Amino acid sequence: MPLLKALACQFLALTITFLIANGLPIFHHPIIFLLSQSTLAVGGSILIRQPMWWIPIHLLFLPLVFIFFTLTIPAWWYLAIVIVMTLIFWGTIRGDVPLFLSSKEVAEVVTIFLEQEKANRFADLGAGVGSVAIPVAIELPNLKVDAWERAPLPFLISLWRGKNLENYKALRENFFNANFADYDVIFAFLSPAAMPEVSKKIRREMKSGTLFISSSFPAQNWQPESILHLSDFRKTVLYCYRIA
Ligand SMILES: C[S@@+](CC[C@H](N)C(=O)[O-])C[C@H]1O[C@@H](n2cnc3c(N)ncnc32)[C@H](O)[C@@H]1O
Repeated sequence: MPLLKALACQFLALTITFLIANGLPIFHHPIIFLLSQSTLAVGGSILIRQPMWWIPIHLLFLPLVFIFFTLTIPAWWYLAIVIVMTLIFWGTIRGDVPLFLSSKEVAEVVTIFLEQEKANRFADLGAGVGSVAIPVAIELPNLKVDAWERAPLPFLISLWRGKNLENYKALRENFFNANFADYDVIFAFLSPAAMPEVSKKIRREMKSGTLFISSSFPAQNWQPESILHLSDFRKTVLYCYRIA
């Protein structure tokens, strides 16, 4: 469904740009044509309230198609690019969370929380390439860190980065299969769409007194114990929830 919506935006933007170009010859210039099409596609995406991460995809889609067609690239390159993108973004087309990386400041703050909580076990739900889980595991060697990630390429990178860390486990699995009761602190950087189901499972399974930290996206109908505004490049906000 998200993919169909995205394709509809692209197609509509292309049609409108063709119609404009019919009446205004300046739009025959490839750069103006491409600028107009991608701006309209972004506008459509915002109008139908697609998540913000679709914006760069809409902006780049047709210009990249154009560039690839003008270059004489061997056909197998296209296949290789599709395979690599699929291995990185895995479930994104079905509406899953895409890969965005947390900053090192996020990892530092999560480490401080883990020390304060005297945590023994920690999970990163959707660990990506281990941007949070790896520095945490290095800083706190007595902490057991589980990095749940189901997209193959980020998982392999996280596995490789953690290969010498005895307290680090990369799991290539859906984190909904995890037992959240095993953890003292859980961290997640997901999406607004994923939050209702994740927070339901967190509240159902995590033990009383443990801590859930959600980066960037708050849980609905749940008062955070604290909210931290970081001054990293993304101006990350961390929402910290104490399990009752
Ligand atoms: C926004 S990235 C965050 C990466 C990392 N936690 C960080 O902070 O840098 C979200 C990751 O969650 C993964 N993901 C989404 N849903 C998942 C699920 N149900 N099980 C495992 N991984 C999932 C995606 O593949 C993506 O790599």
